[in-house]
Amino acid sequence: MKIAVVGTGYVGLVTGVVFADLGNEVLCVDIDAAKVDAINKGQSPIYEPGLDELLQRNLEEGRLRATTDLAHAVRESEVIFICVGTPPTETGEPDLKYVDAVAAEIGCALNGYKIVVNKSTVPVGTGDRVRRIIEQHRAEPHEFDVVSNPEFLREGSAIHDTLNPDRIVIGADNPRAAMRIVELYAPLERPMLITNLATAEIIKYASNAFLALKISYINAIADLCERTGADVVQVAKAMGYDQRIGHAFLQAGLGFGGSCFPKDVQAFARTVQRYQLDPTLFQTILDINHARAPHFVAQIRNRLGDLQGKVVGLLGLAFKPNTDDIREARALEIIRLLLQAGATVKAYDPVAMPRVQPLFPEVRYCRNAYEVAENADALALITEWNEFRQLNFERIRQAMRQPNLFDGRNLYDPQRMRKLGFYYYGVGRAADPSEFKTVL
Ligand code: UGA
Repeated sequence: MKIAVVGTGYVGLVTGVVFADLGNEVLCVDIDAAKVDAINKGQSPIYEPGLDELLQRNLEEGRLRATTDLAHAVRESEVIFICVGTPPTETGEPDLKYVDAVAAEIGCALNGYKIVVNKSTVPVGTGDRVRRIIEQHRAEPHEFDVVSNPEFLREGSAIHDTLNPDRIVIGADNPRAAMRIVELYAPLERPMLITNLATAEIIKYASNAFLALKISYINAIADLCERTGADVVQVAKAMGYDQRIGHAFLQAGLGFGGSCFPKDVQAFARTVQRYQLDPTLFQTILDINHARAPHFVAQIRNRLGDLQGKVVGLLGLAFKPNTDDIREARALEIIRLLLQAGATVKAYDPVAMPRVQPLFPEVRYCRNAYEVAENADALALITEWNEFRQLNFERIRQAMRQPNLFDGRNLYDPQRMRKLGFYYYGVGRAADPSEFKTVL
């Protein structure tokens, strides 16, 4: 099939590369000429494991090309995926200006039947809006269909997720269009659901909000565990064995960041409000999440006292491992709070440091975890990169001014760390269970 993919961010580029790998002819479109050049040279503008290899292979085999010429890509293709960003506006609602602009250009370039598939995360009703914009801009009455095909890939495992999705959702009001998209995905042999447009649009937000809810839920439980001498890791483990609950997304810690959950839950709350429904549930998910970073810094302050002149080392800056993305990263809020309190902040992240440096030039960026630990009064694990799992903690402890370890992702075994001579704080893991008395 001939496909155009508009927008070469995480979703667009990964979608384009994977469809090319499945044997389709793909044109990736972006307004940014530098990105387009990089892609045509086989250099992915984003860091994503496995993406470069797949990109290079499909360029070499002639199935994929990038261009800035959207009209040309539309004329050449049968299916056009819209994968442009929908950044939040001041009110928390997604800004649809990029989606609108692409729809208008598609309308102008229409030269025959096309299927316009929206993959950007957009509020319910956007599919209809795209249809109206295309109708307003088409010069001739060429037919087209609009389909919603939400994306569920995660950064850091985007290729794997795209090749092995738990489900593929195809929202279309015309079964003929839906069946064409089913054909496109058929080689993946994954469960597919065909729904109407509005249903598909809501499935995306309902899924992300539910995952964010699980995280905020376990973080609320973590706070109770801290007060009562319980261990949230064990609570989550036991809960997860109930097949109706499951283990996924029950890791207590610093909360969720990234370009999706914070923005999508906010947007969903706004949508619910727009339809005169109560957004409290969704707002609470965000409120709990906002409280995570201040709570963590408060633990450091409790231990070290006045942070003026104290050195705090951070391990990890990206919003999660295997990505250089720092959008809504918890590290940013933690750095801001630590600097505000007068601490000296050192940090190391395997890939995200160049992104944080311009925002916080006063942070001392290090070459590895051991350099971060040197003369630090506290070491805080912020992002659970694999390389932090097996550190030489003997060496770390000796390098530190005071052996205080704050584990924001519950990566380490508290008993082992205490045996090694650290003061250890894990989120929702009592310092010493024997010190607690439950209040009855
Ligand atoms: C999320 C969803 O998982 C994807 O299904 C969805 O397609 C994507 O948003 C999107 O809408 O585009 P992503 O933001 O890449 O993907 O990252 P996740 O792996 O879901 O992690 C999000 C945040 O939650 C991270 O900051 C992570 O540290 C945090 N998290 C995750 C927890 O704090 N605890 C957990 O148990 C799991």
